[in-house]
Amino acid sequence: MIRIPINASRSYQVLIERGLLSKAGENIRQVKPACKAAIITDDKVANLYLATVRQSLEKEGFSVCVYIFPNGERSKTAATYLDIIEFLSKNNLKRGDLLVALGGGVTGDIAGFAAGTYLRGIDYVQIPTTLLAAVDSSVGGKTGINLSSGKNLLGMFNQPIAVLFDPDTLATLPEEERLAGLGECVKYAVLEDGELWDIMSLTPDKASIARLVELCVSCKKRIVEEDERETGGARKLLNLGHTFGHAIEKLSGYTVPHGIAVAKGLAIIADACAARGILDTSERDRIIALLKKYGFDLSVRYTAEEMAKAAVWDKKADKTDVDLVIINGIGRCSLLKVPVNKLAEFIKC
Ligand SMILES: NC(=O)c1ccc[n+]([C@@H]2O[C@H](COP(=O)([O-])OP(=O)(O)OC[C@H]3O[C@@H](n4cnc5c(N)ncnc54)[C@H](O)[C@@H]3O)[C@@H](O)[C@H]2O)c1
Repeated sequence: MIRIPINASRSYQVLIERGLLSKAGENIRQVKPACKAAIITDDKVANLYLATVRQSLEKEGFSVCVYIFPNGERSKTAATYLDIIEFLSKNNLKRGDLLVALGGGVTGDIAGFAAGTYLRGIDYVQIPTTLLAAVDSSVGGKTGINLSSGKNLLGMFNQPIAVLFDPDTLATLPEEERLAGLGECVKYAVLEDGELWDIMSLTPDKASIARLVELCVSCKKRIVEEDERETGGARKLLNLGHTFGHAIEKLSGYTVPHGIAVAKGLAIIADACAARGILDTSERDRIIALLKKYGFDLSVRYTAEEMAKAAVWDKKADKTDVDLVIINGIGRCSLLKVPVNKLAEFIKC
């Protein structure tokens, strides 16, 4: 089994092993005595994996209740969140009980926020079942929900007590969701270079996927441990490709999935950095080739001005400058403060 310790405001481990779902109970028992456990999951994941996790928890003496919501980003709302809180209360969960987030990033974000706020906070475990959730959202403690004015506007930092990833769950992932996760993996490969880049340059298969997730999580671990609350700058590096990625997501009315928007955002920033002499054109070509190898459609329907305007609405931007993650080379990214009124110009090549 792969074990990655995360030493943030709470210390916990990310466990990666094929077949881990059926051992969820015994691994959770290592960090939490048997208690009431509320599994929060969506309808798709429930059909696929709920029975295994439930049985495994019950075998270890956990008393299980289950909340199922309709899958997809549209459920990441205040209404679902409050419904979960009511559910926890009706099922009489106490401070010492547990919440288990079983699913993709939507489930992890909403369940993590519910766990952090119900009774002023109860423990929770992340069991990611998408590639995106495994390499990104299940680790690092960002949780939250969307408001009508934007994504992830209500939330908190709340670290889980454990993360359990079973690579076998990826076998049922639809192609588009797999691609969305690979967009984030390319981001990590550009941030890290080395073995991560090498694995991504070949096509990750069943044998290498656990190692790929391990390397991505290890990259996130280092950044989160240095800058858990995104105050010092290090964590902002994880936003590579996200400034314009978020803008594209927003402009498309969220019809372009997150990871695919990130891939487009990566291409925009790689092109802009190359045009400005920040990034060697041969390295830009390698990044674009890697994105194309996975079949990402890198076309963008929006003008630089439209994207810059949408990007500035991103909550991570302050009023005058945007902290843009630029690519100095593969494995060498840094932050550049770009005045809001110069953002469109920066990406015009
Ligand atoms: N907290 C963070 O640090 C962070 C980081 C990145 C993204 N996010 C958030 O994550 C969300 C996106 O995550 P996501 O892409 O996992 O979305 P998701 O949770 O909606 O999952 C995508 C789809 O895949 C289905 N699914 C999940 N696991 C499956 C499996 N094993 N087999 C078949 N189908 C499966 C789901 O039912 C859903 O329809 C966004 O809300 C984003 O804001 C959070």
